[in-house]
Amino acid sequence: MTDQPHDLTDLYSGFPAGFFERADQSSDSNFYAAPRLVTHIDDGAIEAVGKLYTELGLTGRVLDLMGSWVSHFPVKPEELVVLGMNTEELSANKDADSWLQHDLNVNPIMPLLDEEFDGVVCCVSVDYLTRPLEVFNEVHRCLKPGGVFVHTFSNRCFPTKAINGWNQTDDRGHVSIVGEYFRRTGPWSDLSAELRTETSSFGDPLYAVWGRKSS
Ligand SMILES: C[S@@+](CC[C@H](N)C(=O)[O-])C[C@H]1O[C@@H](n2cnc3c(N)ncnc32)[C@H](O)[C@@H]1O
Repeated sequence: MTDQPHDLTDLYSGFPAGFFERADQSSDSNFYAAPRLVTHIDDGAIEAVGKLYTELGLTGRVLDLMGSWVSHFPVKPEELVVLGMNTEELSANKDADSWLQHDLNVNPIMPLLDEEFDGVVCCVSVDYLTRPLEVFNEVHRCLKPGGVFVHTFSNRCFPTKAINGWNQTDDRGHVSIVGEYFRRTGPWSDLSAELRTETSSFGDPLYAVWGRKSS
């Protein structure tokens, strides 16, 4: 007997060899040991994240996956749980009602209940997941039917910690990668992908890919 889902090979079949490997294969707890109380995208992109969260009606009990000291909600959800790597960053998050330190690359199974969240957000972090399909299925398990799972990202990252597949493509490719994660997990409905900043803007572009847990 094994506690791994039996169809993992099928889940990942077709991705090129090395796609989910990284230049820095050492433990993420080393890289995230020191707090980074910074923002990873500019003010315009942060505003675009918040605007999307409002448009999607993200409220109730919400999980900020791969979170830090800021969660980018213009209005804090009724209850915000933040999951990330660095306890100093997490405890500095003023919007968090609770937080947990959890390494999704060591264990994609989260210590969270079935259908406990109205929404799950993940900002500028999906590129660091080495087992994204297990994580997407876990998020699906933790979401209420109809709950939204939204990813936002720009055009930069910590390259040594991002998966090779992400580093080897461009913005359009990144949108396709996240779309493919949704396609292989779930079931999800209302899948959407948009550039949320003006194409004429000189600031950071902000892409979003999201879907809802099928009822
Ligand atoms: C670029 S920061 C983004 C932080 C935050 N989401 C934001 O919008 O500012 C990447 C985040 O991913 C989290 N992270 C990276 N690897 C992780 C892992 N293996 N498990 C859980 N969280 C991880 C880190 O804790 C860090 O906060």
